Amino acid sequence: MSTFKNKVAIVTGGNSGIGYATAKELIAKEATVIITGRRKEAIEKAAAELGAIPFVADQASLKDTDAFYEEVSQKYGKVDILFINAGIVGNMGPIEGKTEADFDNVMNINFKGAYFTLSKFIPLLNDGASVVILSSIVASTYKANSSVYQASKAALNSIAKTAAAELAPRKIRVNIVSPGPTKTEVMTKMGLDDATLQHIHEHLVDSIPLKKMGAAEDVAKLVIYLSDEAATFVTGSEIIVDGGLTL
Ligand SMILES: NC(=O)c1ccc[n+]([C@@H]2O[C@H](COP(=O)([O-])OP(=O)(O)OC[C@H]3O[C@@H](n4cnc5c(N)ncnc54)[C@H](OP(=O)(O)O)[C@@H]3O)[C@@H](O)[C@H]2O)c1
Repeated sequence: MSTFKNKVAIVTGGNSGIGYATAKELIAKEATVIITGRRKEAIEKAAAELGAIPFVADQASLKDTDAFYEEVSQKYGKVDILFINAGIVGNMGPIEGKTEADFDNVMNINFKGAYFTLSKFIPLLNDGASVVILSSIVASTYKANSSVYQASKAALNSIAKTAAAELAPRKIRVNIVSPGPTKTEVMTKMGLDDATLQHIHEHLVDSIPLKKMGAAEDVAKLVIYLSDEAATFVTGSEIIVDGGLTL
């Protein structure tokens, strides 16, 4: 079994859900893993549970990203696996009436923050490194009331492919993982009550051909595959993990 021994991995948004599950898999394969998140207590708790290195950084803040870059550069000098995962759904609602604050909140974290995390960390990436960007099936499914979130993920798909073209000469691969509905804290963070969450859950399960929600581990395993040597010929790809929802 191949390992990630002597590899340095970054997982943005590593204190819960998909980021947490991926950090766990990376650590099981012996990588040195640095996780980020906004909430000091949550990131430190997760890091202690996982055996990861915590760094408090808001992905929307370029100042935080610079500080994070400096820390990783000084302590580790290189990065082999960059998993840009942190994201939020934001407030749901129609395009009509969307506020600038709602728009900026989602775009600044999901798109601008992800873009500049990639941009700033490129010099630290080893030749042959793997970058995985966490998108969503919503990047190419156009449901009402989620315009900004959907656009933020579509924008990520675009830059991931450009980055794959730009970084290929250094054998750095850039891929996209697009989950469908996955059981994590993302929905509870939207402030929905238990009854609404249960209703959404039942509706989703009913519409997914495999009749279940995804687990964070399902997504994590794909990230591991893309980051490993088994995927050395895979770049610029989008892999969908959605139980058949978009069939
Ligand atoms: N769950 C799904 O159904 C689903 C489907 C498709 C795509 N996704 C995407 O999957 C990614 C991970 O979400 P998840 O489902 O695992 O949800 P989650 O459990 O809420 O995890 C999100 C992670 O991102 C972090 N985060 C959010 N905003 C941040 C910011 N500004 N700076 C740094 N960290 C930030 C969170 O940390 P804090 O709590 O400290 O903010 C948390 O660690 C997101 O990009 C999401 O859009 C999820």
